[in-house]
Amino acid sequence: MIPELLDVIVRQPSLQGQGVAVFTLEDAQGRALPAFSAGAHVDLHLPGGLVRPYSLCSDPADTRRYRLGVLKDPASRGGSVAVHQHLLVDGARLAIGAPRNLFALVEDAPHSVLVGGGIGITPMLAMAWRLHALGASFELHYCARSRAQAAFLQDLASAPWAARVQLHFDDEGAAAALQPRAVLAGAPAGRHVYVCGPSGFMDWVLAEAAAAGLSEAQRHREYFGAPATAAPAGGDQAFEIELRRSGKTVQVGATQSLLAALRGVGIHVSVSCEQGVCGTCACTVLAGEPEHRDAYLTDEERAANDQILVCCSRARSPRLVLDL
Ligand code: FES
Repeated sequence: MIPELLDVIVRQPSLQGQGVAVFTLEDAQGRALPAFSAGAHVDLHLPGGLVRPYSLCSDPADTRRYRLGVLKDPASRGGSVAVHQHLLVDGARLAIGAPRNLFALVEDAPHSVLVGGGIGITPMLAMAWRLHALGASFELHYCARSRAQAAFLQDLASAPWAARVQLHFDDEGAAAALQPRAVLAGAPAGRHVYVCGPSGFMDWVLAEAAAAGLSEAQRHREYFGAPATAAPAGGDQAFEIELRRSGKTVQVGATQSLLAALRGVGIHVSVSCEQGVCGTCACTVLAGEPEHRDAYLTDEERAANDQILVCCSRARSPRLVLDL
């Protein structure tokens, strides 16, 4: 299954802070783009067959364009480097997936605390626009190593909600440091916190939020890839797959991926990210219980147990029947 793609053009590319490519995407035919909700991402289909998800940082009320910011990370698997190589050009053309949201706002919360660490500011910008449009109570904290390294400072300063923004730069002394526990302890009851950034940063903010009394339902984090899933006690188990349409039965070894087992018997499944984030490899489950290890399916889709992303997921039941 390959999700429907949109043909878009890069506009207004710029390099901000230290190594952040900021650009907008417009429909290649000049039409409105699909609406998105704050916290959504799109998959960029990049040269070389790479597919990578990036958060949308523009105002969700504006469907004429999507805005994105991508930090160049030479240590990554190539997605951000490809963005910097190919998309910092006005008029560059590419395909993207439709927006999907795995980091949605609770829009009726009495107060929202948005915390972006480094490039993790991007979904917070869309959330701030949305909360502002709703007339909702919120505050946005942006943490970065230094003012020189930070992107989007002009956007933050000129937004109609600029007064709700607090900047925290590591090189500006202890007084400038974010104190998440104090911020959250002082916020109204029923407040929610949203955090995006390096995983250690998110762990720290959410631990502080828990210490400030926020329940799990009030604590939200963004995933850039499939969350690391602990193998069950005793390690991964072998399982069997029946391929209903091909009439084949395949054994998946304990140390083998489902995708590798399928390839081993000549079954082709389209893949892109092979990381559980793009949805390209989704297959229909006819029977059995998948063990979802992706970051693509929503909670509802997981609970339905009628599809599986074969690049990363396994089985809870000894046997799965797939529509392949
Ligand atoms: Fe992207 Fe499996 S190939 S989710």
